[in-house]
Amino acid sequence: MRSSTLTWASSLCLLSALTPLISPVVAVKENDFKKCDQSGFCKRNRAYADNAHANGALWTSPYNILPESASLKDGQFQAVILKTINKQGETVRLPITVSFTEAGVARVTVDEERRQNKDIELRHNSAARKERYNEAEQLVIVGGLTLDKTAKAVGDDSSTSTTVQYGPDGQFEAYIQYSPFSVEFKRDGATEIKFNDRGLLNMEHWRPKVEAPAAKEGEEAPAPPAEESTWWDETFGGNTDTKPRGPESVGLDISFVGYDHVYGIPSHAGPLSLKETRGGDGSYTEPYRMYNLDVFEYILDSPMTLYGSIPFMQAHRQDSTVGVFWLNAAETWVDITKEKIRSNPMALGAGAETDTKTHWISESGLLDVFVFLGPTTQDVLKKYSELTGYTAMPQESAIGYHQCRWNYVSDDDVKDVDRKMDKFGIPYDVIWLDIEYTDGKKYFTWDADKFVDPSGMGERLDEHGRKLVVIIDPHIKNTDNYEVVSQLKSKEFGIKNKDGGLFDGWCWPGSSHWIDAFNPKAVDWWKTLFKYDTFKGTAENTFIWNDMNEPSVFNGPETTMPKDNLHHGGWEHRDVHNLNGMTFHNATHLALMSRKSGELRRPFVLTRSFFAGSQRLGAMWTGDNQASWDHLAASIPMLLSQGIAGFPFAGADVGGFFGNPDKELQTRWFQAGAFYPFFRGHAHIDARRREPYLAGEPYTTIITSALRLRYSLLPAYYTAFHQAHVSGEPIIKPLYYTHPNAEGGFAIDDQFFIGDTGLLAKPVLTEGQTTIDMFIPDHEVYYDYFDYSVVPTQAGKRTHMPAPLDTIPLLMRGGHIFPRRDQPRRSSQLMKYDDYTLVVAVPRTGGRAEGSLYVDDGDSYDYEQGQFIHQAFVLDGDTIKSTRASGSGEPPKKAGAWLKAMADVHVDKIVVVGAPTSWAGQTEVTVTSEGQTWTAPLDYTPASGGRAAFAVVRHVNARVGSDWQVTVA
Ligand code: GLC
Repeated sequence: MRSSTLTWASSLCLLSALTPLISPVVAVKENDFKKCDQSGFCKRNRAYADNAHANGALWTSPYNILPESASLKDGQFQAVILKTINKQGETVRLPITVSFTEAGVARVTVDEERRQNKDIELRHNSAARKERYNEAEQLVIVGGLTLDKTAKAVGDDSSTSTTVQYGPDGQFEAYIQYSPFSVEFKRDGATEIKFNDRGLLNMEHWRPKVEAPAAKEGEEAPAPPAEESTWWDETFGGNTDTKPRGPESVGLDISFVGYDHVYGIPSHAGPLSLKETRGGDGSYTEPYRMYNLDVFEYILDSPMTLYGSIPFMQAHRQDSTVGVFWLNAAETWVDITKEKIRSNPMALGAGAETDTKTHWISESGLLDVFVFLGPTTQDVLKKYSELTGYTAMPQESAIGYHQCRWNYVSDDDVKDVDRKMDKFGIPYDVIWLDIEYTDGKKYFTWDADKFVDPSGMGERLDEHGRKLVVIIDPHIKNTDNYEVVSQLKSKEFGIKNKDGGLFDGWCWPGSSHWIDAFNPKAVDWWKTLFKYDTFKGTAENTFIWNDMNEPSVFNGPETTMPKDNLHHGGWEHRDVHNLNGMTFHNATHLALMSRKSGELRRPFVLTRSFFAGSQRLGAMWTGDNQASWDHLAASIPMLLSQGIAGFPFAGADVGGFFGNPDKELQTRWFQAGAFYPFFRGHAHIDARRREPYLAGEPYTTIITSALRLRYSLLPAYYTAFHQAHVSGEPIIKPLYYTHPNAEGGFAIDDQFFIGDTGLLAKPVLTEGQTTIDMFIPDHEVYYDYFDYSVVPTQAGKRTHMPAPLDTIPLLMRGGHIFPRRDQPRRSSQLMKYDDYTLVVAVPRTGGRAEGSLYVDDGDSYDYEQGQFIHQAFVLDGDTIKSTRASGSGEPPKKAGAWLKAMADVHVDKIVVVGAPTSWAGQTEVTVTSEGQTWTAPLDYTPASGGRAAFAVVRHVNARVGSDWQVTVA
């Protein structure tokens, strides 16, 4: 099936183009992707680090701030760094700006001054732009840059350093040392983060190309010195990357002082707590790589790159989290090492006996790093989100279950699946069409033989409030009689090759061109293609899936685009690669917002490739995983990592993309997937059909229960999405995030809390497993979600629990209240106006529990005008109260249609788990709301066996959108 002259991807592509129903399942060949020493700039920077390390104290970084150039004004420190470039002491000038924002974030930006050097100018005869790429900010940063004009210099020795005091209450300091250049970031006097402390700062400056001396007759031309061999071109897998600008990488060491754990920099298929990367027991030998690629059947427990990148890292120890955001869109590698420190003078918390040292290396662009000094994870994430944007409020349907496969083959097939899901009582919201719905992989067209009546299909789905998602990829088929490609060509909206011609490569359709979504005019054009009357057969309930946007180019280097391709503005692809997927996602997001004038609805666009900021645009998934237990297990740390990196609307293909899960695996995967923020079943074209109703008993029933659990928890999930939207919180939260002091939980990444519900889930991820050990992070009481038993726990220890196939290990932590809807229906839309149940988990010491509900129309932007309900719930002794959540402002003067309809929606039932014994014998409660008082029946069930006492109040009948109080006794 494989040909020696074709890469796996191109052979796959050819096969797919020729025989769309057959495509090989071939495991990723690690060798198809670069290792650090096959990537010139990575190898050079690692060698630079090794050299510095080997020289120990003798090593001095050749970067020095010119003292007379330094100034601090209006929240910005500016200076020029001189880099000594040779033994003669020649220097190049690197302007540095350290900005201090009102939010207390510091940003260090280093650029390179353009030199009027004839050789360099000559060398730039290529069409490529001449300065370092400096437009990432325009695409990524959406706020949070207001400068803190009160940041001030403290201390007096301004000829050798500047210390700037900044942040809330002047709590932070940046100590900028001039010679050699380094920065220490301090919080309350203690150093948390250091830049260039190991002297690994390396900005490869522009230099003229010195032609190699000609070969003497009969002899081979002398090879350039090893270190220079990849300066001007580089070959990998038969592809040569020409480098008209020569070497231009940026490298910097960033040390986290007293931090044992670092998290973030997704996406990698490895543990949440990142591993060391320079060998040794249990460590990787390769750096974590961020270079968005189509990594087919990726391997697990690996620092290999995947489809998307977020260069944002957090370091954590007991009671403190700090972070850095490396704003660079070029290929990036990060080495991580940890060093034990003998004694910690500051006597910080556990985990503080270690320094984590990182080394960041990017191929081109500015050095541009944001520093967050915490001290809480919430705070770090909030500030990062202020800069890069918050998770968009989703289409409500988008957080329901999505049924996908490659491919539903006709409109009849779609309708049949829809019918069968109903017949079996299996809820779902969205059905998906993969590439085969098109006429010959021409996006915006339909295969007219198989999809005879797309509009009728959409209308049928709409009968039960369901949606359709169709795939639109960025490669546009290069063929005759295809209006989209004719326009792309005539308007010159495609990405160009290094010579300025239209780039042509291979993907699903065969020969293709790629839209350059960095070009605003191309984006405007893209928007026109989605109008309802242009993309016929689509309607209000059609949404979009963007795939292959790394971009995947089957015959390109590492299955992507040549780095010397050119984008709008003359930037090389090299400079912008990791942003490419986001620009395409953005174009589609904007397109969905302008399908019809006056239609103000939230888009839903799933993307495979992403970057910092993509959270503003939709959801992501982890790409082409496999139907295996280890891939199921890997999905949890991967999704947790997305969440703490500010892009929580994330999922993994449920069931596994490649291969055929057996029924146990499929069932367990649904049980895990029921908690994924983005919950979609998907399968490869060669995989057997596996819609949940095909599983047979007892599997179909168990899977249906998992789906119903998700649907009943949709109000809690939607509330969690709202929290992500306003504060950057993850939807599913790892333990270090919820319990920053519980050291035993810092490396745990197979269990998680859901929003602020206090629900703690640990899906079963291994074959044949019927019990589970759940880590309990604190002294609180935990109740089993399903039977209210009090789980025997000990803080910081694991508790052993039964977990047979029909059981999902799910606990309720005392002290929380969460909303639920208990009537199972076919789709979230059909539950829209159902009454709510509140579940109250009474804390160990009795007394107070808290929670909230956020709900809006789930579709429009009217919530921005106050058309939402946001209530805070408190159990205090014998009363349960619902009041408008603080920060929600006044209710709108005029309720819109949705809010009016919600006047008929009530809190119908309240379940109090761990109800006080003093409630025994009570048979009713008093409800007070909107000036009226009535009673509602209460059933109290005393504790028995291991089960907690619980009380159920029925027919509460209090409007969900109004304030009310329930009093027992
Ligand atoms: C890619 C996607 C996969 C999709 C396939 C066909 O492999 O990752 O989800 O089914 O392309 O479009």
